[in-house]
Amino acid sequence: MNGILAYCRPGFESDCAAELQDKAARLGVFGYCQTQPQQGYVIYRCQPEESEHLGKKLLLRELLFTRQFIVILAHLRELPTTDRVSAIQVALLDDELSELFAAIKPAGSLRVEVPDTNDGKELSKFCRKFTVPLRQGMRVIDWLTPAESDRRPTLHAFFLSNQELYLGFSYSFNQSPWLMGIPRLRFPSDAPSRSTLKLDEAFQVFLPANEREQRVQSGMNAVDLGAAPGGWTYQLVRRGMMVQAVDNGPMAESLLETGQVKHIREDGFKFRPKKKNVTWLVCDMVEQPSRVAALMTQWVIDGDCREAIFNLKLPMKRRYAAVTEYLEQMRETLAMEGRGAFEIQAKHLYHDREEITVHLRMVPSS
Ligand SMILES: C[S@@+](CC[C@H](N)C(=O)[O-])C[C@H]1O[C@@H](n2cnc3c(N)ncnc32)[C@H](O)[C@@H]1O
Repeated sequence: MNGILAYCRPGFESDCAAELQDKAARLGVFGYCQTQPQQGYVIYRCQPEESEHLGKKLLLRELLFTRQFIVILAHLRELPTTDRVSAIQVALLDDELSELFAAIKPAGSLRVEVPDTNDGKELSKFCRKFTVPLRQGMRVIDWLTPAESDRRPTLHAFFLSNQELYLGFSYSFNQSPWLMGIPRLRFPSDAPSRSTLKLDEAFQVFLPANEREQRVQSGMNAVDLGAAPGGWTYQLVRRGMMVQAVDNGPMAESLLETGQVKHIREDGFKFRPKKKNVTWLVCDMVEQPSRVAALMTQWVIDGDCREAIFNLKLPMKRRYAAVTEYLEQMRETLAMEGRGAFEIQAKHLYHDREEITVHLRMVPSS
């Protein structure tokens, strides 16, 4: 039995597992999940050919609760602490494994990773040190190209302790660009709230790097619903936008002083812009997710914004089922009332807790 290993936020294993089960079944794969609460990953068991199929067809960008996933090559326990590299080399040189995954070898890069847990954090120092000798060891057995290549699959060593790891790979066209699937963002010391990083991350995750400059431009108009104290507005201002910040609560003075922010004390569910010149709508109101999803959909349908990024709060237990329902409802409404093609992406971002971030836009006709 082989499978895939999906990285998620600790506490969200059952949502991650429910989603893998559902989406793998839609691809004709019927495996089962193994997971423990708070371990920060889920294992989905299936046959090796099926796991390779999932590695290509289970699209990471469409998974809500998975930050990154790898196709499992081997699970090694009791690694000798004196020479871990040799034990890993022996596992990868196994005849059956070499035959099954011949197309993967050599990988173009190596990532040494850990679960996003406190134990994982303690291990990460060891992992950083171990990366160089392991990379060297992988090159010696031709499991890694001599120079890094982003056209080849990536080899992952996912450590659970300094003696236990999963070896796996991800395809270059279906992976997160970041170690552990987590973007390293710096908290700007002058931002009014920590949630500023959520919007920063959302721009990185949802907008392809080659389109970011064109779609997020200085001089654009934006609306921030539920803006106070201004962490999200800060990100829009930083990108040179003019922002209408809607909230009854107080906004940070530093933002108002920029001259780019108009504070509007109104109900976010009633406010609409006077002109149809808004590119970005963002919304972080702590309100019922179904209401927020319906509001965002209506803004886009009415042409009151071109793109929207918003949070859906998820305090409920069966979060995957709930989000699926909200997204389905949005798709139905857009299909019936929208004026053309639309795009919805959603992700449980690293900086999200009991919420999920959604990006919605009408796709401009070319
Ligand atoms: C999580 S905070 C927003 C934090 C903000 N994104 C930031 O980065 O600083 C939620 C905000 O939504 C506002 N809010 C909740 N319901 C609202 C409504 N119906 N209209 C306007 N604002 C609302 C609250 O006043 C609160 O300031």
